[in-house]
Amino acid sequence: MRIDILTLFPQMFQVPFSAGIFKRAIDHKLVSINLHNIRDYTHDKHHTADDYPYGGGPGMVLKPEPIFEAVEAIKSDISAKEEVRALPIILLTPQGRLFSQQIAQELAKYSHLILICGHYEGVDERVREHLATDEISIGDYVLTGGELPAMVVIDTVVRLLPGVLGSEASPVNDSHANGLLEYPQYTRPAEYRGWSVPEVLTSGNHAQIAKWHREQTIQRTLERRPELLDKTNLCLEEKQLVERLTPPLKQS
Ligand code: ADE
Repeated sequence: MRIDILTLFPQMFQVPFSAGIFKRAIDHKLVSINLHNIRDYTHDKHHTADDYPYGGGPGMVLKPEPIFEAVEAIKSDISAKEEVRALPIILLTPQGRLFSQQIAQELAKYSHLILICGHYEGVDERVREHLATDEISIGDYVLTGGELPAMVVIDTVVRLLPGVLGSEASPVNDSHANGLLEYPQYTRPAEYRGWSVPEVLTSGNHAQIAKWHREQTIQRTLERRPELLDKTNLCLEEKQLVERLTPPLKQS
């Protein structure tokens, strides 16, 4: 996958992409990250990327020209017209659709993404209307810019790409991967400060372990994020488990 990032602060991306799983993915050419400084696409001597909002109001707004020109430069670099048409151009903004594991799975299917990091009071509306194909928010809170949200999106997407994690199977059991929270995990020692690992996990009985995992997934989701269960297809046995674990409603 190729990821192009438009930002006023390319240096913010140096550390996260130079360590751990990310570095390995880049070294193995599973992903390539291209950083573009929006200021490099300005034409005045001060490299002005922002300006005052029309109509007044606080803060500055990112100008449209350098953003359009940066995206056009990236597009002209791609040969296959088909690919250009399918290329997601994602604006990170608190007004976007709320990011989720499902959106990450959707984005992981593309071979190329462009991410635009907004800043200051916002981005000229024409970028939204005539350039971006998608707008993503990472949560109902406001950050100083789109850089951290871009990192969140990229991290979530890249770890889903085949070969990026050690074991191909690992993203399958992630919390949220199947719409539910992941079961509790343990490693050695089997007993620590008197706290033991659940016996079933050391039993070697794979069928029992799989059943325990599923039950714990359901129990944990019910305790912490019960609304997620409403959106999940459960088998009869699992529905019965939910009923058993749900405290009865008090009669009024
Ligand atoms: N820029 C500022 N806040 C943001 C958020 N919550 N999500 C995406 N981009 C943002």
